[in-house]
Amino acid sequence: MDQFRKNPAMWLIVVGAIVLYMVVEGGLPGNRPGEPANSLVPQALAGVEIGGPFELVDQTGKTVTQADFAGKFMLVYFGFTFCPDICPTELLVMGQAVDLLKEQGAEVVPIFITVDPKRDTPDKMKDYVDAFHPRFVGLTGSEAQVTAVAKAYRVYYRYAPAKDGAELGDDYRVDHTSYVYLMNREGQYVAHFVRGQGPEAMAEGIKKFL
Ligand code: NI
Repeated sequence: MDQFRKNPAMWLIVVGAIVLYMVVEGGLPGNRPGEPANSLVPQALAGVEIGGPFELVDQTGKTVTQADFAGKFMLVYFGFTFCPDICPTELLVMGQAVDLLKEQGAEVVPIFITVDPKRDTPDKMKDYVDAFHPRFVGLTGSEAQVTAVAKAYRVYYRYAPAKDGAELGDDYRVDHTSYVYLMNREGQYVAHFVRGQGPEAMAEGIKKFL
């Protein structure tokens, strides 16, 4: 990363390349068949494979894989428990959306995957997810396991010191993308929801696939 510090113009080149990639590869933003009508499809996600097999550790310390969720819909969000506001807001919306689906909600497993496995131990995850829904699953794991699942779900994250210019320390924050993914009974991506959609819109969006 040193070349970036020495030459800030590198950032512009990289950002430009990403935008170009999104425009060229992503096509125009639009709705896939069955996409929740009011979900904005970020160009970066259009036509991209999302998800796949994973091995992680749940909030009870048990190793779980994608196969443990076969037959259920997974509603998946990536974040970290120290997140000051965005993560808790999204997790609250997910829990409420599942409740709005009433009996059908039992078909959906809300899942929170941390991108901060160093601090988010299974115990920490348990205390955290329990606050949002009784059926919330909190997943952590080794650094390698978390890196792999984040990559599969096209989640971008970056550790940053709490104060700009400071050492990373123990007090760091994690900047991360914020999509809620809906995966079907076979574990395949079917839709995603963006920040700011309320629980009603999310419940409606999920219902189309149940
Ligand atoms: Ni967050």
